[in-house]
Amino acid sequence: MSALSSALPDFPWDLLEPAKTRAASHPGGIVDLSVGTPVDPVPPVVRQALGDSADTPGYPLTAGTAKLRAAIAGWLARAARASGDLGVLPTIGSKELVAWLPTLLGVRPGDKVVIPQVCYPTYEVGVRLAGAEVIRSDSLTAVGPERVKLIWINSPSNPTGRVLPAEHLRKVVAWARERGAIVVSDECYLSLGWEAEPVSVLADEVTGGDYTGVLAVHSLSKRSNLAGYRAGFVGGDPALVGELLAVRKHAGMIVPAPVQAAMVAALEDEEHVTQQRARYAARREILRAALVKAGFEISHSEAGLYLWATRGEDCWQTVDRLAERGILAAPGAFYGPAAAQHVRIAMTATDERVAAAADRLAEGF
Ligand SMILES: Cc1ncc(COP(=O)(O)O)c(C=O)c1O
Repeated sequence: MSALSSALPDFPWDLLEPAKTRAASHPGGIVDLSVGTPVDPVPPVVRQALGDSADTPGYPLTAGTAKLRAAIAGWLARAARASGDLGVLPTIGSKELVAWLPTLLGVRPGDKVVIPQVCYPTYEVGVRLAGAEVIRSDSLTAVGPERVKLIWINSPSNPTGRVLPAEHLRKVVAWARERGAIVVSDECYLSLGWEAEPVSVLADEVTGGDYTGVLAVHSLSKRSNLAGYRAGFVGGDPALVGELLAVRKHAGMIVPAPVQAAMVAALEDEEHVTQQRARYAARREILRAALVKAGFEISHSEAGLYLWATRGEDCWQTVDRLAERGILAAPGAFYGPAAAQHVRIAMTATDERVAAAADRLAEGF
């Protein structure tokens, strides 16, 4: 038997353990800016909905309750400016969907899938789980005559914070449609634009209400501090969403009923998102200023939860230097061979820890 795990890359975070140990030995404690995991409270309106729905002994629907489907469609109409008839489906966070979507949509050995040059590692994992081949490229013209089954895009990007404008998204959709490829856009940072307004692939100015061959993947982990709840969803081409539902029903990929109720509350409330954005905006300014003063150059980072920074040296050297100051960052190498000189600095730390990082960076680098 050949183990499926042997087709997968090393789990990257294990490689960061030595730097983590070093950073943790700082007398002021570690400032962990390596993982984009929320640290602020779950909004009370969401906790209330979760608690109110605790008595749910029966099996939930894979398709989601009618209320949840309406809440997702309503949110996509407002936030993604998608006015057409969308298929929607809740998912158990978005990472599981990213990892299994190629398999669920029939990508098989011999097929090719395009992923961004520098990106969230799970796109590659999903392609490998399907036994297919990865092409890392940001330029579809460079892909040439290869027959591509699926294209992943991610805007705002993790890790770079780059935002793809509507014109770019239109070109990707047109390119894919000419070739019969599916476009899947991971938009989990859509609500976190700072210097650019993120555009959804489902926006009317991109797809004009025709979602054929197009899906957008969303998550409430970042927007609503719900990483612990595992709350995501996908919207777009009703035929593709129907196919996902048909397979996921058989496979038991069901969002728990209390989480479905919590998702409705999160999608119907914007107040908590405004508050959370303000927290991140303040942390972003402090970290950005401190990094620039310490000699870092910030690339892209127009949106999302990270500062994509470089000192023009190997990323592991930067990780080590930061670890000496008790600060843990993620090396660019985790996100693709083209990112070997960058580090990713997450804004997901408390105000107190962010202030500590700024103080340490100010002590000289
Ligand atoms: C680009 C991107 N997609 C998907 C995810 C997965 O998020 P979740 O599974 O919490 O929805 C993340 C998490 O960091 C991410 O950065």
